[in-house]
Amino acid sequence: MTRRSIAILGAGNVGLALARALVAKGETVVFGVPNPDKYRDAVAALGPSAGIGSTDAAIDAGDLVILATPYAAALGIARSRPDWSHRILVDATNPLASGLAGLSVGTTTSAAEEIAKLAHGARVVKAFNTTGAENMADSRYPNGLVFMPVCGDDADARSRVIELATLIGFDAVDCGELKAARYLEPFAMTWIHLAIKLGHGRHFAFARLRR
Ligand SMILES: NC(=O)c1ccc[n+]([C@@H]2O[C@H](COP(=O)([O-])OP(=O)(O)OC[C@H]3O[C@@H](n4cnc5c(N)ncnc54)[C@H](OP(=O)(O)O)[C@@H]3O)[C@@H](O)[C@H]2O)c1
Repeated sequence: MTRRSIAILGAGNVGLALARALVAKGETVVFGVPNPDKYRDAVAALGPSAGIGSTDAAIDAGDLVILATPYAAALGIARSRPDWSHRILVDATNPLASGLAGLSVGTTTSAAEEIAKLAHGARVVKAFNTTGAENMADSRYPNGLVFMPVCGDDADARSRVIELATLIGFDAVDCGELKAARYLEPFAMTWIHLAIKLGHGRHFAFARLRR
C-alpha cells in the first residue's frame, strides 16, 4: 500500500519544524494554509518531498493531518468538514490565553477534546504540544531522548502517531485515552513557563527516567 502524504495545517514554527524532521526521515508532507503564497519559499527550502496548498486541499491529500495552527483556528478547521472520514487528526495546539497568561481551557476538558467534539469522524490524537518547535525540528540531545507523550481514544491512530514521533527521534509514550490531554496541555505550560517566563531558553527538553 502506498502511504499518503502527511498533511500539516499551519506552516509556522511547529509546522515547519515537524516537516523538516519528517522529510529528513523520508516522509512526504503537504502544508495547508489560508495563503499558500506566503510560505512558498519556506516550503520549497524543504525540498521536493514538501508541497503546499489550501487547507482543504491538504486535508484531502492526507490520511493523517497535523493541526499546527493557533487553537482558535484549529476549532474552525475541525468544524469545517461534515465528515473527516476516519482521518487521524493530530492536535499539536495549546489553548494559550493571551500573553501566555495560562490556558483558556482545562481541568474538566482540553483543547484536544473540544476539537474532537467538532471533528466528526476524525480520530483525534494529542501529540507534539509539550516541547518547543526547535526540539521538533531536531530532537537530538547528548544525554537522552526527549519525552513525547501521545494520547487518543483510537488505539491504531495512537500507534501510528507514536510510530511517527519515534521516527523523528522522540521517546514517544502511550498516555492512553484522549482525556489525558487535560494533563498534557498544562505540561506544555510547564515547558513554556520555564523557557519563556523564567528565562531557561528554548534549548532544553523533558526526559523520562526509569529504574
Ligand atoms: N511554537 C512552539 O514552540 C510550540 C510548541 C508546541 C505547541 N505549539 C502550539 O502549536 C500551534 C502552532 O504554533 P506556532 O508557534 O507554529 O504558531 P505560528 O508560528 O503562529 O504558526 C501558525 C500557523 O497557522 C497558520 N494558520 C492560521 N489559521 C489557519 C487555518 N485556518 N488553516 C491553516 N493554517 C492556519 C498560520 O498561517 P498565517 O501565517 O497565514 O496566519 C501559520 O502558518 C499553537 O497552537 C501553539 O500553541 C507551539
